[in-house]
Amino acid sequence: MIEPANRLNIVEEYYFSKKLREISELEAKGESIINMGIGSPDLQPPSQVVEVLKNSLKDEKAHQYQSYRGLPELRKAMANFYKEQYYVRLNSETDILPLMGSKEGIMHISMAFLNPGDEVLIPNPGYPTYASVTNLVGAKPVFYNLNEDNKWLPDLAEIQKQDLSKVKLMWISYPHMPTGAKATKKVFEDVVEFAKRNNILVVNDNPYSFILNGYPLSFLNITGAKDIGLELNSISKSFNMAGWRVGMVVGKKKYIDYILKVKSNMDSGMFYGLQKGAIKALNSGTIWFSSLTSIYRQRRDLVWELAEILNCTYDKHAAGLFVWAKLPKDSSSSIEFVDLILKNKGVFITPGSIFGSQGEGYIRFSLCVDEEKIQEAINRF
Ligand SMILES: Cc1ncc(COP(=O)(O)O)c(C=O)c1O
Repeated sequence: MIEPANRLNIVEEYYFSKKLREISELEAKGESIINMGIGSPDLQPPSQVVEVLKNSLKDEKAHQYQSYRGLPELRKAMANFYKEQYYVRLNSETDILPLMGSKEGIMHISMAFLNPGDEVLIPNPGYPTYASVTNLVGAKPVFYNLNEDNKWLPDLAEIQKQDLSKVKLMWISYPHMPTGAKATKKVFEDVVEFAKRNNILVVNDNPYSFILNGYPLSFLNITGAKDIGLELNSISKSFNMAGWRVGMVVGKKKYIDYILKVKSNMDSGMFYGLQKGAIKALNSGTIWFSSLTSIYRQRRDLVWELAEILNCTYDKHAAGLFVWAKLPKDSSSSIEFVDLILKNKGVFITPGSIFGSQGEGYIRFSLCVDEEKIQEAINRF
């Protein structure tokens, strides 16, 4: 019997991987489950993206190894996207590294910057991958609490009271997942000032800025942010292309080069056709986001109705692909609440506690479910 590496003892199987298995088993028994858990967009990518991918397959270099840094025209499309959508100027030759999704970037950034024993500031609640990757590279997660009273924004004065001497990296993610909270320029300015004062690299994980959000904001839009910060972005949610695995990390050349050093030792360049399709998507223009918004808005209205049936409360100003709802005062834990609904009504919703202890008392509905199914979920109650 060969034992796995010790590092596997400090990470657990991803909640969704376990839960989706359970849902498949229920479905195999003939139950009809409405899955409002996971944020995998069910809508189609912009028209022509798939056509471009198909047509690219006949190009002479389509099946060869690709550059670690991606096609120059992909980096140009990403730079142009940042300029048009966020008013951030990036040099496509030096400031952008295409990635296989932003999730990949969390590992690459951690490998590039963290030594064993370094500490990492991680939002609670937040995307579970920040903590698991921190553990995998032998660094130490230090959670900072977010709460509804503070609009799910970091309380920097509170964080500053701790000993930050070992902290090397801080994860932020606005619009925030799972809560949908939005940062303002002022919030980001304060984070830049905090990071400079404490010599911490800040990474804003920004895959949700075009979903139900009128004012997409990049962390790099803030003066001085490039000195201490990086941003991850992705076409997974913005263009309904989660399975394509196309994302990017953007920032200062020096930092990007460190990440490239890791990446070029771990994988090879992204498949040519995917890069071609991604370029087409990135050039879709603002009209694409208006059509996306109108669909998600209609779905969200129905999810709000469902949340109200469950006596939950929610913030109407939140952004992103989810509705984050507070459970009624006397309810059981979020995991028990969700399991009961799955058992009795065949509707799966994500318990807030899987995003950290501060998520207890909340549940998260995904908007990646069509109106008909949300209506059916409402009918089941
Ligand atoms: C906060 C956050 N970051 C990153 C990701 C990963 O996205 P990608 O598909 O770009 O790897 C997700 C996906 O759910 C997410 O919620």
